[in-house]
Amino acid sequence: MRVNHAGEVAAQALYQGHAAVARDSEIEQQMRQAAAEELDHLAWCEQRIQELGEEPSRMSPIWYAGAYVIGAASGLLGDKWSLGFIAETERQVCVHLDEHLDGLPAEDTRSRAIVKTMRDEEAQHGASAVAAGAADLPGPVKTLMRLTAKIMTRTAYWV
Ligand SMILES: [Fe+2]
Ligand SMILES: [Fe+2]
Repeated sequence: MRVNHAGEVAAQALYQGHAAVARDSEIEQQMRQAAAEELDHLAWCEQRIQELGEEPSRMSPIWYAGAYVIGAASGLLGDKWSLGFIAETERQVCVHLDEHLDGLPAEDTRSRAIVKTMRDEEAQHGASAVAAGAADLPGPVKTLMRLTAKIMTRTAYWV
């Protein structure tokens, strides 16, 4: 749940960063809406972490700042590229959440319900990005994103 929490910190920052520089007002609106849903996800993860007697990652401000800059930077490349970045991010997030669902004990129904709902909404975010004209990113960029996500999830797990 710490990893998911860190992911949601980054997710809302990513959407806010993109919204701040979006050229198309409809896309800006879509980014703000997604950011609001990521904020809900963040609140659910935070509550669940507390219920489990854990602490969120101490790196949260760094996840936030890093993702905001990436969101804004990719937004500056143009909406189709930043939408492509979002579509790929959400796709990778869905893969991660599916793996997490597989690993969660069947009796932890509360965590499962949270992860399942998030997963469905992330899929929706990805589909909206594609519908709004997301470009398909070059393969090496996708690989780099996967590597970055791996470093981030490992770090958030421990620190
Ligand atoms: Fe999310
Ligand atoms: Fe999302």
